[in-house]
Amino acid sequence: MPNTAEVEKPVASLMGVTKKVGSKTLVSNLTLDIPQGQIFGFLGPNGAGKTTTIRMMVGLISISSGDILIGGRSIKDHFEEAVAQVGAIVENPEMYKFLTGYQNLKQYARMFPGVTKERIDEVVTLVGLGQRIHDKVKTYSLGMRQRLGVAQALLHRPKLLILDEPTNGLDPQGIRELRDYLRHLCQTEGTTVFVSSHLLSEMELMCDVVAIIQNGRLIEVKQLKAVAGAALPVGETLFEVSDPQAAFQVIGRGRSTEEGVVVEATREEIADINVRLVTAGVKVYAIRELSRSLEDQFLEITGGEGIE
Ligand SMILES: Nc1ncnc2c1ncn2[C@@H]1O[C@H](COP(=O)(O)OP(=O)(O)OP(=O)(O)O)[C@@H](O)[C@H]1O
Ligand SMILES: [Mg+2]
Repeated sequence: MPNTAEVEKPVASLMGVTKKVGSKTLVSNLTLDIPQGQIFGFLGPNGAGKTTTIRMMVGLISISSGDILIGGRSIKDHFEEAVAQVGAIVENPEMYKFLTGYQNLKQYARMFPGVTKERIDEVVTLVGLGQRIHDKVKTYSLGMRQRLGVAQALLHRPKLLILDEPTNGLDPQGIRELRDYLRHLCQTEGTTVFVSSHLLSEMELMCDVVAIIQNGRLIEVKQLKAVAGAALPVGETLFEVSDPQAAFQVIGRGRSTEEGVVVEATREEIADINVRLVTAGVKVYAIRELSRSLEDQFLEITGGEGIE
């Protein structure tokens, strides 16, 4: 798939979004672009303002000042058009426990003209509910209920899927599966996913970009994954080789260590360097990314005040 994220408009933009309740400012002047086709993480400790922000994005609560655009439409001026482009699970989704998952989806689909039976089958496959879709919801595990919630949120093909702490309560296997089907969704339907969490490690595995908030304020937006084809540096890479000196000569930059050569390189450059080393007769034993973890970077940014 061509990478058009740079040229396309963001699927959503938060512009100076502020939420005040009484004298308390819960979210303060939050400005953020959510690029199309990515998995965008929204990371912050408990009470940071994640849910409050998401509630504003889906129109559950009003914005005190600023605005949110979804697909270019203002949530203030064109509420219906803006929220029509969003699918979300914010609180526990409404489900009829005595109906099957499939019957629930059929009920829900009636709210949207144009949702066909084929589309229902498609979302069931997407979230991997399989045959369990014909069992009653009251027999579902938490993870299965969540899948059904995501399926429901996807029925009308939203441009933006918003999930508030979707990994809460899931076991490691469930978290992994969520990650896989969100990625699949992003790739097959081009859906942009906005997902909140208070866990750094999780965001690192799941997201392309992460915005960090603390005390209602945006601290930083970080690109986590190099997009294929884009010339984004991916941090430092160690080429573990048979002859570091020779390798250093071949690469022509970086620094040599006992094990090999450390160099800042993009994905494409890594592949290229590897070919050059091998061609020059240097044995490459391993290629390892040395970039610091998000956790390290986060600690640096916040001066040691960790998230978890
Ligand atoms: N209606 C409200 N009135 C007053 N304060 C509120 C209200 N709703 C939320 N808050 C406060 O706003 C802050 C942000 O809450 P929010 O639920 O958005 O945080 P969060 O990042 O989602 O946290 P968590 O990780 O615990 O879900 C908290 O201090 C919370 O107590
Ligand atoms: Mg929350």
